[in-house]
Parts: sequence; structure tokens; C-alpha cells
Amino acid sequence: MTLPLKLSGAEVRLAGIGKRYGQVTAVKPLDLVIEGGTLVTLLGPSGCGKTTLLRMIAGLEQATEGRLFIGGKDVTLLPAGERNVSMVFQSYALFPHMSVLDNVAYGLVSSGIRKRDAHAKAEAALETVGLKGFGGRLPSEMSGGQQQRVAVARALVLEPEVLLFDEPLSNLDARLRRSMREEIRALQQRLGLTVVYVTHDQAEALAVSDKIVVMRNAEIAQAGTPEELYTQPGNVFVATFMGEANHVRGVVESIDGALATVKLDEAVLTLPHRGTTPGPVDIVIRPEAIRISNSPVGLPAKVARATYMGSHTEYHFATAAGELFAVGADRLKRRAPGEAVMLALDPEGVVLVKP
Ligand SMILES: Nc1ncnc2c1ncn2[C@@H]1O[C@H](COP(=O)(O)OP(=O)(O)O)[C@@H](O)[C@H]1O
Ligand SMILES: [Mg+2]
Repeated sequence: MTLPLKLSGAEVRLAGIGKRYGQVTAVKPLDLVIEGGTLVTLLGPSGCGKTTLLRMIAGLEQATEGRLFIGGKDVTLLPAGERNVSMVFQSYALFPHMSVLDNVAYGLVSSGIRKRDAHAKAEAALETVGLKGFGGRLPSEMSGGQQQRVAVARALVLEPEVLLFDEPLSNLDARLRRSMREEIRALQQRLGLTVVYVTHDQAEALAVSDKIVVMRNAEIAQAGTPEELYTQPGNVFVATFMGEANHVRGVVESIDGALATVKLDEAVLTLPHRGTTPGPVDIVIRPEAIRISNSPVGLPAKVARATYMGSHTEYHFATAAGELFAVGADRLKRRAPGEAVMLALDPEGVVLVKP
């Protein structure tokens, strides 16, 4: 028998939430709204405060500042067990001596629910993650990906309003990581769950998120959709953290309406000014925006290295503005190291950023 799970996704609102450990500020007070039914990732390098923020949402850490609302209710002072939140840990934390079904039912049984009902809900949760019929196995009889799904089932069975993941895929090999991240995303969308997902892997964040919150040094560097962060980075840190990027310095010569005329060595570019002013400026250039041009004007360069990668070729160009990394298909093919070329920059992949 299975008992259907009642699942819904609540909004999470952080209002000035912060955490200090003595002298260490793990998270500076910050505001963030995670809309119900969306998947939001906290992305950033190790030590930037992602886990601390997640554990404050879970109620496993008490915030030292601010207030936290789940589904409009102030839960700031509620302990973890009284918040409607479950967490999937990196290490799965399955009990090795218990069957998969008992592992999934464990949280319900220990909260006093009758074993029969708990098992019926656990069956439903296993079915939800595609493990119908696996309840009798031991965790050691399951693959890494299956154990990960058991961990998700164990969180879902508690019918949380918010599901939290802390680097859930770091124990899996690269191929399995890719398929598991798609599974988690599909499950979240199918069930309308609110998911907060911590990762340090930008590709993972780009692939699964409705919204990404990039963190750096205990604060939010920028929050937005994957596309916003990739195409409109607010600073050099976000630009270089979100995918490959060349960072060079140019000069804004003039501003006219929304556009700036920018000089990069001999190349003249017209780009959205994005709040920059005449004078030296940081420019971020995506590798795919660089191509070899037949035009006599552009950015003069020399091929420094060319690496055949099968589906594309990777180039390093030496220019007066510094070395540029480029990826290209046919248009960049068959250029030998040492060859002088003229580069054109596709404005879509070039952005001005304030320092
Ligand atoms: N229990 C703790 N006591 C003291 N400092 C801590 C504690 N937990 C985390 N920190 C510090 O807070 C900062 C953020 O840690 P954490 O949230 O784990 O970062 P992340 O998950 O992004 O790697 C780090 O400087 C870390 O050393
Ligand atoms: Mg962490």
C-alpha cells in the first residue's frame, strides 16, 4: 500500500539574516526572497557562507541577526523539528543496517507515526524518486546514484514545504552528477517544490536553477537568473565565476545615450555603458565571442596556442590588451601558432563592468 504524499512549495524570506561565530562573520546580514515552487542555488567558493545560510534556513543554526519567514510565518526562533523543512546531506547519512524502506520511514516512525502508515508513505516516496520495489534492499546493495535518491525520498517523506540540498552530488562521478542534477530538477518541477541548493560548481548551478545567488566573503555578490548572471554580471568576480571569461582593461572614450564607445588597444567597440563613466574600465569577454576576422580593423593578435578538442578548437591569442582565451568551431580552424590575425569581438559576449 502507498499513502500519497502531500507536497507543496512555500516561499522563504530572509530579512537581514546574519550569523557570527565569535569574531568570525560567516554570513553578513542579507535579504533574500526564494519564491515558492522555485529552485534557487547558493553558489560560491568554499568558505563563503553557503552551508551556514542553508543551515539557518533549516533551523540547524540559530541566526544571530534578522528574521526568517517560511510560507509567511516567522520561524526565526523555531527549532529544526518544528519547521517544515528537510535537508539532503552530501554524505546521504543512510543507516547501513536498515533496509531502504526503514531508512526512508525512519523520520516518520521516530516522530510517532504508526509503522504501517510510515511504511505506506515511504513506499510512495520511493516511487516518487523512481525506486519502486527497492524498499527491501540494504543501502550497500544500491549504487551511489540510487543511494542519493533514497536520501531524497527520506527528505520528501516528511512532506516538507522547503527542501534543502548541501552539495548533494559531490560524492558521484561526473556522468552520474549530470544525470542526478537533471533528476533533481525534474522532480522539483514536477512536484512544485521549493528547493534551496548549495553548490560550488557553476555548471551545476546554471543547469538546474531558476535563480542563482552568487556568494562571496559572507555576502551576496549578485542574484539573478542564470542568463542574467552570465550575460549581465555585476562585477568581475561574478563574471569570472560564471563560466570562462577573459578579463581585460580598456578605456571608455565617450558615452552616448545607453551606449559607450570603448577602446581596447586598436579595436573600437560600441557597448551598453552599464553605469560606467569615461576613463579606464574592466571588460569581460566570453571565449565564444572572439573570432578571427577578415576585416583590416579590429584587435591585432598573434596565435599563441591552438588546441584541438574534437568538437571545437581552443585558442590563446597574444594581444596588446593581454592574453585572450577563445573557443571556436570552423571559423577559428587551422591557425598555426605564431600567425598574425585580426580579432573581431561579438558585442553579445562582451560586457563592461564596474571594478
Ligand atoms: N561552527 C563554526 N564555528 C566557527 N566558524 C565557522 C563555523 N561554521 C562555519 N564557520 C566559518 O564560517 C565561514 C563560512 O563557512 P561555510 O558556511 O561552511 O562556508 P561554505 O559552505 O560556503 O564553504 C567559514 O569561514 C567557516 O570557517
Ligand atoms: Mg559548505
